Amino acid sequence: MPEQEAQDLFFPSDEVKAYATVKEYDKTYAQSIKDPLSFWAEQAEKLEWYQKWDKVLDDSDKPFFKWYAGGKINIIHNAIDRHLKTPIRNKIALIWEGENGESKVFSYHALNREVTAFANILKSMGVRKGDIVTIYMPQIPEQIFAMLACAKIGAAHSVVYGGFSAEALQERINDAHSRVLVTADGGYRRGKPTGLKQIVNEAVESCSTLEVVITVKRTGEVVYMENDRDYWFHDLRALPIANTPCPTEVMDANDMLFLLYTSGSTGKPKGIVHKHGGYSVYTSTTHSMVFDLKPEDRYWCAADPGWITGHSYIVYGPLINGATLFLYEGAPNHPYPDRWWRMIDKYGINILYTSPTAIRGLMRYGESWVNRHNISSLRLLGSVGEPINPEAWKWYYNVVGKGKAPIMDTWWQTETGGHVITPLPITPLKPGSATKPFFGVEVGVVDDQGNDVAPGEQGNLVIKTPWPGMACCIHQDRQRFYESYWKKYEQQGWYHAGDAAKVDNDGYFWIIGRSDDVIKVSGYRLGTAEIESAVVSHPAVTEAAAIALPHELKGNAIYVYAILRTGFTPSHELEKEIKDHVAKMMGPIAKPEQISFTEILPKTRSGKIMRRVLKARAQGLPEGDISTLEE
Ligand code: WT7
Repeated sequence: MPEQEAQDLFFPSDEVKAYATVKEYDKTYAQSIKDPLSFWAEQAEKLEWYQKWDKVLDDSDKPFFKWYAGGKINIIHNAIDRHLKTPIRNKIALIWEGENGESKVFSYHALNREVTAFANILKSMGVRKGDIVTIYMPQIPEQIFAMLACAKIGAAHSVVYGGFSAEALQERINDAHSRVLVTADGGYRRGKPTGLKQIVNEAVESCSTLEVVITVKRTGEVVYMENDRDYWFHDLRALPIANTPCPTEVMDANDMLFLLYTSGSTGKPKGIVHKHGGYSVYTSTTHSMVFDLKPEDRYWCAADPGWITGHSYIVYGPLINGATLFLYEGAPNHPYPDRWWRMIDKYGINILYTSPTAIRGLMRYGESWVNRHNISSLRLLGSVGEPINPEAWKWYYNVVGKGKAPIMDTWWQTETGGHVITPLPITPLKPGSATKPFFGVEVGVVDDQGNDVAPGEQGNLVIKTPWPGMACCIHQDRQRFYESYWKKYEQQGWYHAGDAAKVDNDGYFWIIGRSDDVIKVSGYRLGTAEIESAVVSHPAVTEAAAIALPHELKGNAIYVYAILRTGFTPSHELEKEIKDHVAKMMGPIAKPEQISFTEILPKTRSGKIMRRVLKARAQGLPEGDISTLEE
């Protein structure tokens, strides 16, 4: 942490303190850590269970923890069904605005109607409890309805982000063995249709398990539909079966709710699995306390529902809490850089949760775009996905929050299900620090042997106690789950997060970044191995190494070192061709900033590429310990 910034403290105003529901941190935290199971039982009591759990935590099969073992629940019962018995029934659940200005509003009553219809449609296509449905959609209401419909009938969803390529989609459909895919003809992004269905058509050619594709019409483009495989959603929605009642399936607390693929150290993406019980408790508790949610709030998490942030804090946490949420389809700068501020003004948004990349992107247009609109409704701000640099923090705080809205810089991961290190509205803030652990979770920064490092020293971030939002496993790969997260600190039984961090003298956590072969680009998580295998799949390349270097807007950008096959010569054309090839293989987010052609890569004697050395060289920094470097 930069010395001077560490001293910058932003105290909550009296107004914020008076308004906050959670008034105190230290004592409650100490108590929650002394007796975490009571704390988590108390939170779980706030939900409706078909049958109460026998055991809050069953740890007989570590690290495959089972929360609320023996309990019966369905997340949809809590996110929709129970609200229908209360005045929330007529409250707005979802306000959606399309990039083209179109908008739609759904009450909880209407949400239930749409989710029920979607659930009936899925059932009529043969989807059953335990199946995995893949969802590949733009940010439209049907994306959320499809997720909720799966959960309602006990099927798991696997949402693949709409920016991913045909190759990435195909790999994920095949890993999940999905028989049914839900998609759309496209969405709007910077005024243009995204053409999702074309990508689907390309992807599903090599998906042997896939039998049914349901397509929502959004852009109205002409798309190819195959007989006996492709169905238009609106045709199915018009069938009488869609409007019949559909019971919510009674699930075991430890039945799979969804799987979500994320990048790890090896090439194959990991299918992270979350379950109905613990995830319901964790997302709703953190969402309500961290964002200090009030019944009258209008809440906007500007992520894509296709990422974990969207799953936990657009869809499930907020709906369980009966919130009114806002969803926007398109680009933040379309048609002008004031699009977000215009919508905040128009809908009276109170809470905005976004990423440092988005903030930096909007910051570069200058504050006059913000000041054209009255955004004084904003009361609380959130940040997630990567460390927020103090400059962006201050802009967010002063220009967007007008110096009165505290920023919740939330550290967490796909695997943690919800916030782990985060301020509460009453927490004194330091720009760039995610501050302190959430209630009921113990966190530490340790060396390779597991000793706490001294304040200000860099170490590995670990989570020392189980928490209800934790992923239960990697889809069909128990071994990899253990090896990725639990093996390093097996003796202590700690979760190894893969981040480097520091703790300062006040006990504040400062996340430095990934310490493994994972790169964060604009908050998106990419594996160096995946990028490298995309690069070497180009016919001109024989070997490649990918590293991350700091980038003003994206946080990090991808730099690739490539060795060419004999017969190929380095050129700007070839560099461009390889960049485009990677974008096509993985999706535009993975497009490298630069490809440098080289004759040799630094390797250990056992043949592992030393990315650390490449990174130091590229930045003109000392190369550190190179004793294992091959001659
Ligand atoms: C990685 C997890 C959790 C939702 C989005 C990302 C980085 C996340 C912060 C933060 C610094 C952060 C970490 C983490 N990260 N939030 N507030 N400050 N770094 O989920 O794609 O699973 O990525 O994102 O490096 O390990 P994800």
